[in-house]
Amino acid sequence: QLSVLHKFKGILFSTASSRELLDSLDSFDAREDDVFLVSYPKSGTHWVAEVIENIPNAKITITSPIELGDISKFDELKTYSKRRVIPTHLSYDMLPVDIKQKQCKVIYIIRNPKDTAVSLFHYYRDNPNLPYIETWAEFLELFLRGDVVYGSWFDHVLSWEEHKNDNVLIIFYEEMKKDFFKSLKKITTFLDMHVNDSEINNIAWKTSFSEMKNNTVKESHDPNHTICALTSERNLVFRKGVVGDWINYFTSKQKRVFDELFTEKMKHSELARRLKE
Ligand code: PPS
Repeated sequence: QLSVLHKFKGILFSTASSRELLDSLDSFDAREDDVFLVSYPKSGTHWVAEVIENIPNAKITITSPIELGDISKFDELKTYSKRRVIPTHLSYDMLPVDIKQKQCKVIYIIRNPKDTAVSLFHYYRDNPNLPYIETWAEFLELFLRGDVVYGSWFDHVLSWEEHKNDNVLIIFYEEMKKDFFKSLKKITTFLDMHVNDSEINNIAWKTSFSEMKNNTVKESHDPNHTICALTSERNLVFRKGVVGDWINYFTSKQKRVFDELFTEKMKHSELARRLKE
């Protein structure tokens, strides 16, 4: 089953990200006005992409993920004339060097790791491009060891936190849920875009979980298009869309083990403190 994944520099990737492409990431040419939409898988990437797409006059194109496909992919990305919003689940260390040199803007999305783990567990089970893991207990062990696609959640978040600067905007899934207006304002300010109140209400409605899920079913979206390199099946992305679903999965012992590792790994992390708020 694990043959659907391969390891590159110690990190698991789906075979949809060819070794050749991963080897050549540093040959990627960035544009100064590129925006990178970065996240550990299952953190709310599609949601934020949909929000940006619905900003009136955004004049952007959301591309496919930078790590999807083979090396010809970089030529295809050159063909976009509008400002590119490029999704990726890559950690900071693996990000093409030109993006760092040109100091492109990055929106980094974070979600509570317990909910992220539960969401990824379901993705593993539903997605034929990922190995089928029998039990939640088994999956959680893999997650805590970082033996899942894109590696350890902790290392991913820390890699980005370490390189946080004015060009990196951090967006929390939970804050988007609690105060959509505030998160949207952060995004539009960061991208030098403007929205008025009625536009905000419209975006909030269009990007609500139920609307996005229904639109997928109604096929007003291409059902075979996602911005995740792990599947092109849009209906695999929308599961429950809630905060706190982890409580239905973690035993008290699993919670304790998780929290201990979290405390240890994230002891110097400012972001971790904000996740607990
Ligand atoms: S992917 O495939 O890794 O890029 O997934 P990603 O888009 O990052 O995250 C998928 C989870 O986000 C939930 N989701 C939403 N939540 C709230 N509102 C909206 N509009 C929304 N759209 C997607 C999606 O349901 C996945 O979380 P879970 O917990 O599995 O439901």
